[in-house]
Amino acid sequence: MKIRKAVIPAAGFGTRFLPATKAQPKEMLSVVDKPLIQYSVEEAVQSGIESIAVITSRGKALMEDHFDGSPELEQFLEGKGKLDFLEEVRRISNLAEFCFIRQKKALGLGHAILMGEDYVGQEPFAALLPDDIFDCSPPCLKQLIDVYTEFKGTVIVLGRVNEEGTKKYGIVKPKQISEKVFQIEDMAEKPGPEKAFSDMGIFGRYVFHPDIFAAIKRTAPDQKGEIQITDAIKLLLETQPVYGYLFEGKRYDCGDKLGFIEATVELALKRPEFSQALQEFLKSLSIK
Ligand code: UTP
Repeated sequence: MKIRKAVIPAAGFGTRFLPATKAQPKEMLSVVDKPLIQYSVEEAVQSGIESIAVITSRGKALMEDHFDGSPELEQFLEGKGKLDFLEEVRRISNLAEFCFIRQKKALGLGHAILMGEDYVGQEPFAALLPDDIFDCSPPCLKQLIDVYTEFKGTVIVLGRVNEEGTKKYGIVKPKQISEKVFQIEDMAEKPGPEKAFSDMGIFGRYVFHPDIFAAIKRTAPDQKGEIQITDAIKLLLETQPVYGYLFEGKRYDCGDKLGFIEATVELALKRPEFSQALQEFLKSLSIK
């Protein structure tokens, strides 16, 4: 079955980014010249997704405006002959079909994904966390969709992490079944280095079997009262196989300030119009 739909959870408070996120969504912070969420939307579209539900919350309506048409701006750009910008602005509003669903309370990532249940229905679907920018070819989500198509079961993206990473990410107990594909035997959310099953962490791309919704409903909240998607996937793997895919490419964790700065510098260096001048600027800093 073709994976047509994606859910993008974007309803969190983004506390690690305060004060920037006091009155504006983290997902609308711009890396080089594009808001974070647009990277995920473009990756989804390049992976064959046609329809996207963004899980949102109060104060985050800017995301709706960003993917909507903007007739006044378009008219203005047309009048000024700024046709490149006009084309870009129109392209953004035609990327996919959008639907915005409110999560009334930030009860965790698992709960945010559950908000997409009616929209998704009974078909497999993708989920993308806008915090993560993947710079891969083929796109990271496309790599996951190919694994889903072959194995017909939930697939999560895995990456190698260091000790610090075991405190930041869900960690899996993997059983290798091919060069890049692993069957997941167990998993734990942020276990820390002592309790970590492996050095493989779960990053922000998933292709879910629709049974994940029933698993989320059976998942108990953690100590902070949040329903974690890692705990729901752990329940799911009691009844069906779940796979992990060690992706090929580069990933930036833009959920915290340092990762965001790294993404900004490296992605700007890749842009022909900034590359030379930015390299010269960085050299001129004479960092010791
Ligand atoms: P994070 O764990 O990064 O949470 O969520 P956050 O609120 O965005 O940021 P911090 O940790 O407070 O700094 C990962 C993704 O899941 C969404 C977030 O918007 C983000 O895109 N999310 C998280 C929800 O949609 N709802 C939630 O209840 C929690």
